[in-house]
Amino acid sequence: MTAVGIDAIEIWTGKLQLDLPGTFAPAKGEDPGKYTKGLGLETSSFPDAYEDIVTMGANAAKRLIDRKGLDPQDIGRIDVATESAFDNSKPVSTYIAGCLEQVYDGDFHHANKGERKFACLAGTQAIDDAYNWIRAGRNRGRAALVIATDTALYARGDPGEATQGAGAVAMLITEEPSVVELSTEQGYGSADETDFLKPNQQFPSVDGKRSMQVYLARMREALTDFESVAWDTHPDDFAYIPFHTPFPGMVRKAGLLGYRHMIRDTEIEDALEGRIGRQPREEEYDDREAYEEAIRGYMDDLKETEEYRSWYADTIDPTLDISRRVGNWYTGSVHLARTSALRRAAENDLDLAGKKLLVASYGSGAQAEIHAETVMDGWREEIEAANIEDQLQRRYDLSYDEYEGVHDRHNHDMDVEMEEFTQPEGEFVFTGWGRMSERKYDYVE
Ligand code: CAA
Repeated sequence: MTAVGIDAIEIWTGKLQLDLPGTFAPAKGEDPGKYTKGLGLETSSFPDAYEDIVTMGANAAKRLIDRKGLDPQDIGRIDVATESAFDNSKPVSTYIAGCLEQVYDGDFHHANKGERKFACLAGTQAIDDAYNWIRAGRNRGRAALVIATDTALYARGDPGEATQGAGAVAMLITEEPSVVELSTEQGYGSADETDFLKPNQQFPSVDGKRSMQVYLARMREALTDFESVAWDTHPDDFAYIPFHTPFPGMVRKAGLLGYRHMIRDTEIEDALEGRIGRQPREEEYDDREAYEEAIRGYMDDLKETEEYRSWYADTIDPTLDISRRVGNWYTGSVHLARTSALRRAAENDLDLAGKKLLVASYGSGAQAEIHAETVMDGWREEIEAANIEDQLQRRYDLSYDEYEGVHDRHNHDMDVEMEEFTQPEGEFVFTGWGRMSERKYDYVE
């Protein structure tokens, strides 16, 4: 079967940054260690006055189209994944196509456009749609453009404010891809949950602590489901495991749980037995409470073992490099995690071709999806061509007062004018509203 997967990836970060331990924590009267050690975050990205989900998505897509030397007719599908949409009818993909048509000869009139919604999972679902469209032979040889774009803002004072972020990831899905091939096997864990939702409101209603429990429960179900159609996973099977990363501390918890699951009944559990015992099995306990307490004790010990620590350092930590510096990008977050891992591998000159990734996506509400990916020969060239470091370093560093102004500027219920902090150059910008309250965009040379 011909390989189908991701052929190219480009990111666009919001052009402002907030230093969490240095600026945000002192303003909130909090210990900076909550951010650096607890949540695992250094800075978050924010959109400048002229940026939004359309400009960030269109700018990431333009970088990708230019770099791959594509014409509009090479693209048969444009899907945008977002949980920050500002229109309940007209999809963001039409706005982004409109932006791109300002700068390219030709148009996207024969491309199928849509918008995908399932909280942070939607980016992965849009890739899924593209995969199925290509596999079904409906693509007429054309590629799909998938764009995950979000401004992940919380109401000021909400505990989620600590984990905000803004940016877009554009991905090209093709046959014979250069970066990764997707597995046909997938696992799902899905249930009707009210952990995080936006019932016709811009900022989410969040039950933060519960959302973390739901994330872990759905991930566990998805892994079991994946194993039922793929194979019993082992920690050595994967070069990296990119997770949806609302903040790195969440992935620390998920990584430990995943490791415990994967080592069960393996030579690793045997080797650890003398030091921390075997994993508690539910059937050995009279009640659930006693079992859960035993599990907690085992996990505390497992976390400190050399085996786990070195697996985490090699397989999970490299997926968090970018997230640590940008915060949560919702739909783009798991795709940033993959990019981050590949970037670390390129920096360390690792030979990844043929190696496997296990990609673990999650959306509140709630659903987790897990699939495997095989790294393709062209991965290094693709990753090295993206200018991620340059974008991260060029961000304007906000004071706390400036941050509050930026938050108000992007609050849909407020009408706040704000001077931009950065000068747009070679990018799409938001210019205001049209006669039907549509948002308008221009390209600035
Ligand atoms: N030094 C070291 N660690 C510290 C510390 C210090 N000085 N102060 C606090 N910490 C640790 C805490 O112990 C905690 O770690 P553990 O969970 O391991 O115990 C961590 O830092 C966070 O501290 P708090 O729990 O006190 O933080 P909080 O009450 O302000 O809330 C949160 C944290 C619930 C994640 C909140 O930020 C939130 O609601 N975020 C939005 C929801 C979210 O991201 N949920 C994740 C799962 S849902 C999902 O993934 C979808 C999505 O994208 C939204």
